[in-house]
Amino acid sequence: MRSYLIAGNWKMHGRRDAVVELLAGLKTQLPAEPGADIAVFPPAIYIDLVSRELQGAPVAVGAQNVCDQSKDGAFTGEVSAEMLRDMGCRYVIVGHSERRELYGESSALVAQRAKAAIEAGLTPLVCVGENEAQRDAGNTLDVVGEQLTAVIKVLSTQQLGSIVVAYEPVWAIGTGKTATPAQAQEVHAFIRASLAKQSEEIAATVRIVYGGSVKAGSAGELFAQPDIDGGLVGGASLDAGEFSAICRAAE
Ligand code: G3P
Repeated sequence: MRSYLIAGNWKMHGRRDAVVELLAGLKTQLPAEPGADIAVFPPAIYIDLVSRELQGAPVAVGAQNVCDQSKDGAFTGEVSAEMLRDMGCRYVIVGHSERRELYGESSALVAQRAKAAIEAGLTPLVCVGENEAQRDAGNTLDVVGEQLTAVIKVLSTQQLGSIVVAYEPVWAIGTGKTATPAQAQEVHAFIRASLAKQSEEIAATVRIVYGGSVKAGSAGELFAQPDIDGGLVGGASLDAGEFSAICRAAE
């Protein structure tokens, strides 16, 4: 039985005082022993602050990206998986559509970032998803399949078992247009079937979370789907009450 994961991607939002206030709200509004795994993903500069503020709280910390290079070196501007682990991270998002679209990240680079994360003991949330034109053209499963295959190619079967896949239809991100539970379940089932070609056991254990305008009002129906194991939440994760309500929907 897979446990739910509720991940809050803060994207490029926050200032020191606002971060402390948001975390104080989460600590008071989240249940003492949540029924789901919960993680927040602040901008990298705030990871240390968030790690310290969340000491003892039932919330893990993650990063929004990670260098594809495992060893320290001349990679200006990059942050290694070992550094993220050193500062208290347990998870890292790789291949978010905003990095693929705005910063030209290829599926091959995303796969290397996932591999570097795993080698340092982090759990990568591997983001996949189609844009509106690709969905309208009926290419959703081809797009998601290509993105997932690139990761399967570089990971060992054992390493594949330590990822989380995040299906984020690009047309639902930040738009308020949440995918219907049926739309999301169709792609999640495809992802799980694709993983099953590598290993039935891994397919049964890997968590596949949904992202794209998840709100407290839509979370329950989404999480009730057989292949949806939680959410990757953007805007709503910046509101302690809304994010806590989404976490409770996964109880
Ligand atoms: O990574 C999660 C994000 O892309 C979803 O954003 O604001 O639609 O929940 P939002």
